[in-house]
Amino acid sequence: MSVIRSEHSAASLVTYGLRLATEAAARAAYEWIGRGDKNQGDQAAISAMHAELQKLGINGVVVIGEGSEAEVGELFNGERFGDPATPAEFDIAVDPVEGTSYLAKGMTNAMAVVGMAPRGTMFQPGPAFYMEKFAAAPAVKGKIDPAAPTEEKLRLLSQILDKPISDLNIYVLEKPRHRDLVERLHRAGARVALYPAGDVAGALMAAIPESGIDALMGTGGVPEGILSACAIRAMGGEFMARLDPQLATEKSAVEAAGMDMRRWYQLEELVRSDQVFFCATGITTGLLFEGVERTRTHEKTETLMIGGPLAERQLLTTFHRRAPTA
Ligand code: FBP
Repeated sequence: MSVIRSEHSAASLVTYGLRLATEAAARAAYEWIGRGDKNQGDQAAISAMHAELQKLGINGVVVIGEGSEAEVGELFNGERFGDPATPAEFDIAVDPVEGTSYLAKGMTNAMAVVGMAPRGTMFQPGPAFYMEKFAAAPAVKGKIDPAAPTEEKLRLLSQILDKPISDLNIYVLEKPRHRDLVERLHRAGARVALYPAGDVAGALMAAIPESGIDALMGTGGVPEGILSACAIRAMGGEFMARLDPQLATEKSAVEAAGMDMRRWYQLEELVRSDQVFFCATGITTGLLFEGVERTRTHEKTETLMIGGPLAERQLLTTFHRRAPTA
């Protein structure tokens, strides 16, 4: 007798498995919160997530990883999980610590993230590191041209969401490259929620209706963009992106790869399937969920799980038993 009785329970099992990987990463990173060293925290989370993904027996390939095989020993781009003698079933995107600087400084919004979609369906960024992004709620889907001027996007957002521009709150990474964007948003009368890092949280908040964030605008990392696209594809919402190299070397590599930097990719091009799974666990408390809390006996985690045919999102609080200390 099979214990998996429906497509829904199969999908739930996948997200249940993935949450073990993000929870392991978040718990490993916890030790490094506020210690001023982002690399050790990142490495601890990478190893913990890697070990958990190996145990899960997922048959997939890391397509959005931590770097090349030469740079990182685990969770590198192209790393194969599962039996290499069988065709891979999934593309896997990982970010064991999204917001490494948040982690090092003990600030909000650091999280461990995994996305998974059928093999060959995630966007291949090649040499690109940065993309401009636009994210918003499901009501906005297909109604705003991301290439339109900022003021026009605000006008349409205000119309679609039925609130004055002065009530719109736009999430933007606080970076010198966004000075003009922020000025224009302020001049038009909108509020701007400026965060020094962490645009996965911003994109997800933008896609969740009534979350307090109405849209995400501006340029951030490509891996974070693909992970945001996984979550938003799974739960509904708008997300579009355009390659936007920030360094001359990145720009020439993107040009040499023949990639178009003017083209806005639709959500359905960034993740070409709606059979997507996404899990994120808070490391430090942020907009989406609480971070890891440790007591003498337990570690508490909060994990956002999205996936399955119902496109539901679940927030799971878990009390992990800690091994007794001598
Ligand atoms: P890290 O975890 O790599 O530090 O990324 C945090 C982040 O803020 C992302 O959320 C964002 O997409 C990217 O960095 C922006 O990059 P940069 O800080 O170089 O502008």
